[in-house]
Amino acid sequence: MNEIIERKQLVPNIHTCTVKAPDIARKALPGQFVIIIPDEFSERTPITLADWDKRTGTVTFIFLEIGASTQRLAELKSGDRIYSFTGPLGQPFRLKKYGTVALVGGCYGIGGIYQAARTLRKMGNKVLTYSEARSSFLLYWNDKLEEASNVVRYATTDGSKGMKGHAWDVLREDLKAKVKVDHIIAVGCTFMMYKVAEMTRSFGIKTIVSMNPVMIDGTGMCGACRIVVDDQTKFACVDGPHFDAHKIDWDVVMSRRKAYLEEEIISQER
Ligand SMILES: Cc1cc2nc3c(=O)[nH]c(=O)nc-3n(C[C@H](O)[C@H](O)[C@H](O)COP(=O)(O)OP(=O)(O)OC[C@H]3O[C@@H](n4cnc5c(N)ncnc54)[C@H](O)[C@@H]3O)c2cc1C
Ligand code: FES
Repeated sequence: MNEIIERKQLVPNIHTCTVKAPDIARKALPGQFVIIIPDEFSERTPITLADWDKRTGTVTFIFLEIGASTQRLAELKSGDRIYSFTGPLGQPFRLKKYGTVALVGGCYGIGGIYQAARTLRKMGNKVLTYSEARSSFLLYWNDKLEEASNVVRYATTDGSKGMKGHAWDVLREDLKAKVKVDHIIAVGCTFMMYKVAEMTRSFGIKTIVSMNPVMIDGTGMCGACRIVVDDQTKFACVDGPHFDAHKIDWDVVMSRRKAYLEEEIISQER
């Protein structure tokens, strides 16, 4: 069982949690995830690794308090132990020298792009980061992203910081203004990734999104996380979670997303 070093609310409804997990910290790469079972009555919940420190043997993740398992996670305190913490899982991002890379983050994805920004910059890329939230008080890790990126641009739905609108609106403005972008990575809620994918298609820039379907084992056995990419069935847990956004069958993604909504609501009420 892994000890929680710190668990705190970053902004309303979004928490950060740092856990002692030396084996995972040693092997973690940007874009990988863990499967967490908060207590013995909880489900298996996939969560992206946002940061890690090999020296202290700790890993940090960011989560949205959204259903039964993440509510349970949000109740845990420093010193408590997580029932099961497995990882690192999934393929890391394919990071190399692209030239200029745009990273788009929303909700938990703001944390999910941080290590990619650091690594891409170290590899000699120019890193343009686009961070979005409904309002300025819901943005987090601004200082970390600003330190890791060459430029950070913000979008808020109410216009309280950066451009009024969404991250894909700011990126579209930059692309229209002929800002040179060679590669795009988006992490966050499904709708945001879909909108980024639709927008970048017409510009012909390779766009990678980090898919977040329901997962059970996380090791390619159950098939729960299947998605259709380029007319082929892929398992997000082992083949992904990162895929070419322009090859994903988004209709399948959207229809499978709400498949267990009734059960999720019952579970939360219980
Ligand atoms: C590879 C991967 C990485 C991920 N990384 C992260 C991450 O870093 N951080 C993060 O926060 N999430 C991440 N996710 C998503 C996370 O795993 C899911 O949100 C997970 O289902 C949460 O579990 P839960 O039991 O709290 O919610 P669930 O019970 O599974 O509920 C999730 C869904 O049900 C809906 N729902 C639940 N209860 C109700 C209700 N009462 N009324 C209406 N709707 C309801 C929610 O809106 C949501 O759509 C990731 C997923 C994957 C596959
Ligand atoms: S979670 Fe079971 S195959 Fe991916």
